[in-house]
Amino acid sequence: MLERIISIVRRAGETILQARDIESAAQEKSSAADLVTKYDLAVQEFLRRELLFLVPQAGFLGEEGDGCAPDREWVFIVDPIDGTTNFVRGCHHSAISVALARNGVVEYGVVYNPFANELFSAERGRGAWCNGAPIRVSTRDLAHAIFHSGSTIYDRSFTPRSFAIMRYLYDSALDFRRLASAALDLCYVACGRAEVFFECRLLPWDYAAGMLIVEEAGGHVTTLDGQAPNVLQTSGILAVNDRCAELWQVTKSIQE
Ligand code: IPD
Ligand code: CA
Ligand code: CA
Repeated sequence: MLERIISIVRRAGETILQARDIESAAQEKSSAADLVTKYDLAVQEFLRRELLFLVPQAGFLGEEGDGCAPDREWVFIVDPIDGTTNFVRGCHHSAISVALARNGVVEYGVVYNPFANELFSAERGRGAWCNGAPIRVSTRDLAHAIFHSGSTIYDRSFTPRSFAIMRYLYDSALDFRRLASAALDLCYVACGRAEVFFECRLLPWDYAAGMLIVEEAGGHVTTLDGQAPNVLQTSGILAVNDRCAELWQVTKSIQE
């Protein structure tokens, strides 16, 4: 199953690599920071068709609408382009994110950055890989950690909490990054390029696949209060390596 999903996702990546004149294809959704292009729609339509051909009994939950039956036993959770603003601006850090969940538990996850030709994948209980090679979270402690954060730019009511947590991490860790693709942020924790990632509000398609990839690489993913996320719902997300596993106590305590 994982190999078949990977093959579909790699084919979908060709649409992203062939995209031209992207900025003129962009439209605003909820705000000027929240964009969609005809390429997001084309990639999602391709994935919907191919993934439901692979598992016809599955439901489909995708960022760009046209979802069906998210209450089925098996559900695909899909972001056709995570990092759309990067994509529109020619910053080659965006990814396709596909998770397949069974009864609300992610069993397979694939995150693919076609620009870098990096494909992260995981299967529950079997491990996590980047282009087929096993990956693990790092063993660095918080003092030596790179943290990634989202800015929750689509909902500025989270700004005080986001920046309070960032301030704590800035003072406690080595340095920070804001790379603007939550799915790739999670994969970067999984392969040890970063130790911590958090964002105060993410949607299922932003984190479902990356969450499994982090967990199968030996890391931990919780809400900012240290709970197991419900992968079919909007949630704050904290991903850490094992050395930073207690960080949820800090994020829980910062409630601005
Ligand atoms: C966004 C990216 C971004 C995160 C936002 C997401 P999109 O997804 O993952 O890093 O900060 O919260 O919505 O809109 O580019 O698919
Ligand atoms: Ca997204
Ligand atoms: Ca998206």
